[in-house]
Amino acid sequence: MAGLIPGGLVVGLLFFLQVPVPASAASKAIVCQEITVPMCKGIGYNYTYMPNQFNHDTQDEAGLEVHQFWPLVEIQCSLDLKFFLCSMYTPICLADYKKPLPPCRSVCERAKAGCSPLMRQYGFGWPERMNCDKLPQNGDPENLCMDYNRTETTTLPPLFANQLIPPEAQNT
Ligand SMILES: *[C@@H]1O[C@H](CO)[C@@H](O)[C@H](O)[C@H]1NC(C)=O
Ligand SMILES: *[C@@H]1O[C@H](CO)[C@@H](O)[C@H](O)[C@H]1NC(C)=O
Repeated sequence: MAGLIPGGLVVGLLFFLQVPVPASAASKAIVCQEITVPMCKGIGYNYTYMPNQFNHDTQDEAGLEVHQFWPLVEIQCSLDLKFFLCSMYTPICLADYKKPLPPCRSVCERAKAGCSPLMRQYGFGWPERMNCDKLPQNGDPENLCMDYNRTETTTLPPLFANQLIPPEAQNT
């Protein structure tokens, strides 16, 4: 009897059926899920997949860790930091490109240039797991990556950046 099926299950199944899974997926199929990590909502894409490269199985797990960077995002040491962090912790998931699409090295370098001096002041190094050298460079046809247009804002020292950058510039 249909009446016995709990509503939640139906919704869950419908959601699952809407997400296309390639017929002959590689060993591990990537299934897109809507981004729920608060910091990573509205960064220019809405879907991610788990586990991420840091082996977080759920977005809750990834969110706990990425939110440790919230003070740095708030202080705007780099306007690229939020996008960079989110693209690492909640990687973009695309329906028709079932491969990891990391941020480009340039995004990482801009975030690091802006924020690592500040982190150092507080006794933290730039995390090894966010080593920019591991990321592909823009234009590498073998390894696609995400970059976007954000100039001049990240070269200012943090204190000035904090004062000069209008809040609306935060949005991608
Ligand atoms: C993401 O979701 C928001 C809110 O639902 C929507 O306005 C926006 O167009 C979506 N972005 C993409 C890239 O689909
Ligand atoms: C960034 O935007 C400017 C102006 O809109 C454009 O001329 C330039 O080509 C863009 N750069 C990149 C890397 O897309």
